[in-house]
Amino acid sequence: MSIGRIDWIIGHVPPCKTLADVGCDHGIVGGRCLMYGLAKYVHFIDISQPSLDKAKGWIPKAFAPNIDFTCQDGLGDFTCDCAVIAGMGGLETISILSKAAHLPQKLVLQPMRNQPDVRRWLVNSGYGIVSDEMALFADKYYDLIVAELGKGQTQLTDLQFEFGIGNLRGDSGAFFEYLEEKKQTLEEIMKQTNDSGVKARYDLLCAAVENILEEMA
Ligand SMILES: C[S@@+](CC[C@H](N)C(=O)[O-])C[C@H]1O[C@@H](n2cnc3c(N)ncnc32)[C@H](O)[C@@H]1O
Repeated sequence: MSIGRIDWIIGHVPPCKTLADVGCDHGIVGGRCLMYGLAKYVHFIDISQPSLDKAKGWIPKAFAPNIDFTCQDGLGDFTCDCAVIAGMGGLETISILSKAAHLPQKLVLQPMRNQPDVRRWLVNSGYGIVSDEMALFADKYYDLIVAELGKGQTQLTDLQFEFGIGNLRGDSGAFFEYLEEKKQTLEEIMKQTNDSGVKARYDLLCAAVENILEEMA
């Protein structure tokens, strides 16, 4: 776990009455949101009891009236104005949101994979993308998507679905590094193979670089 990544996530949580930390594990996101006064109440949720116990173990007893801990799959029928779902696969994130009885007004999502699917699900479900950026922590790239029902950008190009709006605007230095790294890797692979899928991915990365350069010109 990278504390830099956790603080980055927390920095994107809007002030809210009730926050759900779904897949809370250690509970640091929800716990710090309470302590920083970002959330008045936090539902800590995890599908694994041992994970939930990590959160239970350190949140100060003084917060007892402002918290609950629930071992369940996803949001269930909880209501909250904001949910954080971080550190899970994108398809799991989509599955959790699809099964939720009540969709939160705001979402802070940090999917580990399948980010384009997450963006498409959000837009198809009435959310707009408020911000979308990549950052680098401990040699790993992470995506963070903030979305809100009825607000934010709802019309995205294929390239924006693929890479994220803010990234393509040039907001993230990490994204530029990511593109250069991936391009170099694919250039090496293309020296040894004619795989059309590899070439297509390379072209997509080049299109993203061009997009950023145009935006910044
Ligand atoms: C890698 S940890 C991420 C912990 C924390 N959110 C973070 O970003 O550091 C993923 C957590 O999600 C939990 N989890 C996975 N699927 C879940 C689901 N469907 N509902 C609730 N929790 C889930 C796992 O048990 C695990 O504790």
